[in-house]
Amino acid sequence: MTDILDWTGARLTDLDIHTNVGRAGELAKRLTDETSAGNLPFLTMPYLPELRQQLADLKEKLAGFDHMLLLGIGGSALGARALQEAFFPEQDMPGHEGPWLWIADNVDPGTLEGYMDRLPPEKTVVVTVSKSGGTIETVGQYFIIREWMEVVLGDRWKDNMVLVTGESGFLREEAETNGIVTLPVPENLGGRYSVLSAVGMIPALFLGMDVDAILKGAMEVAAPLASPDLDGEGLACHESFRIACWGKALMDAGFAELIFFAYIPLWASFGDWFAQLWAESLGKEGKGSQPIPAVGVTDQHSVNQMFLDGPRNKACLFLTCPGLPDGPRFPKDLPDKFDYVRGKDFGELIRAEGLGTMMALQKNDVPLVELRLGADSPKLAGKMIALLGAATILTGWLMDINPLDQPAVELGKRLAKARLGADGLGPEKEDLDAFLSARREIREF
Ligand code: PA5
Repeated sequence: MTDILDWTGARLTDLDIHTNVGRAGELAKRLTDETSAGNLPFLTMPYLPELRQQLADLKEKLAGFDHMLLLGIGGSALGARALQEAFFPEQDMPGHEGPWLWIADNVDPGTLEGYMDRLPPEKTVVVTVSKSGGTIETVGQYFIIREWMEVVLGDRWKDNMVLVTGESGFLREEAETNGIVTLPVPENLGGRYSVLSAVGMIPALFLGMDVDAILKGAMEVAAPLASPDLDGEGLACHESFRIACWGKALMDAGFAELIFFAYIPLWASFGDWFAQLWAESLGKEGKGSQPIPAVGVTDQHSVNQMFLDGPRNKACLFLTCPGLPDGPRFPKDLPDKFDYVRGKDFGELIRAEGLGTMMALQKNDVPLVELRLGADSPKLAGKMIALLGAATILTGWLMDINPLDQPAVELGKRLAKARLGADGLGPEKEDLDAFLSARREIREF
């Protein structure tokens, strides 16, 4: 056994997971209905043959650039960043000579200006990723970057652009009007579930990752769930379902927070990816649990005190990989008080600290499942992405909410648009006026 979930510390006997396990037949039926209707491309991945061809076609074009500037936000950026940090740490190392991937997933004027001041337009490919094709944070950056490109490159600006978008929306029109190379975000593939499409695979390809291995790993985990023959028994054996049953039982027992503790340091950004996946999918109708990304060992010296001795409302997914490189060896001539590491490999330190933290969490009554990977490889990343994505969908179904939408985030966006003077939005404008004219309780500090 190489890639495993260790349930020993999950406290299954203290939680009512049986009610959820009892719904395996119902959920298996729902899965087969939804997958056969084409509603869950995250699991069925029908777009893969086309994607592989499109990536093969794109490879040569990408090879002509030193820099990729990715414009996108949320699910259009977080998966790409997680892959970049896990499998292309070179960019943050001294002496790196390219390629470089820059991910612009915020509205930070200084950063955007910095990119325009420092990136060479002729050696930069700009990849704008937006499923809806209308997200203002992304499209807003696109407008500015496009003008910057046009000024320097004239009509050739289009050659330095790639769009990744859905079937309709502003970016789709832009693609058609200007003949820009465009790859699709497949229908029904929501942003936070889309890293295994062109959304995450274009940047991965640019950085020279083994894209096939990532996809293969994901398919291994997703295929049984996408099978038309899936039944309750089959689903009950799938670890994604077990995580879902555990996740829902935890919520019912008052565990309001779920830590994603990565003891693979370079995989820290998968914590942010998972946080978006879990939070946007499951924070609905007053239900859900708050995901908390943490990284070992750094967070042992930061938020871990709260995990261990703060409110007892936390559970933990604990990610490890015993096969991480051993790294350099501690010198033999160490002071006596450090003799316990003398002559040992540096990698033994993180293994011991991971074990210590995992045990301490369990001793402090944190229900914990260890996700232990046989390797920190692209294939295993694909497996983990599929496992956690499927677990999230199934948890949402057990909660009787829709894990594929995110309606609550719309209000803030509408209010921001109203503030900027967008047409319509009468009620939001009234709300704004009331908010801005209300007497404020203000104190200097
Ligand atoms: O998961 C989601 O659907 C969202 O987080 C989106 O990824 C995010 O809002 C960006 O949307 P879009 O890709 O349409 O620009």
